Amino acid sequence: MGEGKRILLVVSGGIAAYKCPDLVRRLRERGYGVRCVLTQGGAQFVTPLALGAVSGDTVYQDLFSLTDESEMGHIRLSREADLVLVAPATANIIAAMAAGLAGDLATTVLLATDKPVMIAPAMNVRMWEHPATRANVTTLRNRGIGLVGPEAGDMACGETGMGRMSDPNDIVAAVDGFFRNAGRLAGRKAVITSGPTFEAIDPVRFIGNHSSGKQGHAIAAALAHMGAQTTLVTGPTAQPDPSGVSVIHVRSAREMHDACLEALPADIAVCAAAVADWRVADEAAQKIKKGANAAPPSLTLIPNPDILAALAAAGNKRPRLVVGFAAETENVVENATAKRARKGCDWIVANDVSPSTGTFGGDANAVHLIDGEGAESWPLLSKEAVAERLATRIAERLEEATP
Ligand code: PMT
Repeated sequence: MGEGKRILLVVSGGIAAYKCPDLVRRLRERGYGVRCVLTQGGAQFVTPLALGAVSGDTVYQDLFSLTDESEMGHIRLSREADLVLVAPATANIIAAMAAGLAGDLATTVLLATDKPVMIAPAMNVRMWEHPATRANVTTLRNRGIGLVGPEAGDMACGETGMGRMSDPNDIVAAVDGFFRNAGRLAGRKAVITSGPTFEAIDPVRFIGNHSSGKQGHAIAAALAHMGAQTTLVTGPTAQPDPSGVSVIHVRSAREMHDACLEALPADIAVCAAAVADWRVADEAAQKIKKGANAAPPSLTLIPNPDILAALAAAGNKRPRLVVGFAAETENVVENATAKRARKGCDWIVANDVSPSTGTFGGDANAVHLIDGEGAESWPLLSKEAVAERLATRIAERLEEATP
């Protein structure tokens, strides 16, 4: 699989660095050439000698080393790889990458590289869940940086939770998947919806919902990474625009509907937005006054256009694969299966959005992929991992369908 492909492995300072010689060995068994950059912190957990022995190459450590620079300048180091893999990726190196810092050789290489980057985070669960880390990971994801793991489990610090570095075998599988998937959807066009819609009551009030756009944006980023020409039609969210994606910002369901239909023809449509089913019949032109003794206003609601159903019924412009999401709070698979039939889409991705699941706005999702044959349940995964799995399944489906 890896013949002729070169990995630059950046080893930063977490206890999981002890797994790196094994990771290098497994990558080399798959045929990848591996060269290592070791941070000062990383060198506390694994020696340059061990990494040099398993990689069969020099281990680079020092930005200001005359020897390292004359042998292999840091710019060349960053460009001579097909993939830069950061494993373990500590909270510190993730923060430095997000901020664009270049205080040592590893971060300088990461800032200078024009090659794809993948990170395998490893840190304490609280550090992983800290809003600063969440924001930094989102920033990196939106720049197109791939993520493998972390996994849940017991940690070296004695706590339990999300933050363990993925097993070397899983990292190797993700690297294989990266090379297999890169450019796989080249020549395909995709339209994705994401986020909530806001339905105006008057110029200052609206009806909305809790969708953050994390799931839809991750799907757009994953499809773009695989080479699809991707248009993301998004309602109001705090998510940054994913790189390599053409983004159309809308507010209401009607605006989203029109933007999606204008984006056709497409090969793939994925509707992950939480579109308001209804809007206010008579949107007030001026702010509705409370009035001293006036009764609260009554709102009459009328149905919004169904974007998913419209895409699935778009005649000769119908995307070859139309995928909906189903947000359910009970009888998840049964209700979603009925929804798939009602809306005329090919697949529906069902997720439980009961408040206890944290699906709306959270970072993880447990979904069931439903097609005409039945339902396949996926484990609880990060929204990025759900997006990557779904994008891979979409590519497989289109490849099967192409004679
Ligand atoms: O944004 P996050 O915080 O990451 O949360 C992700 C999510 C929970 C919003 C996402 O995973 C999800 O479930 N999206 C669909 C939400 C929804 O509106 O579900 P629904 O069951 O009401 O609608 C079914 C399908 O029809 C969806 O594909 C929806 O986009 C689509 N729809 C619904 C109504 C409408 N008028 N037009 C539509 O296209």
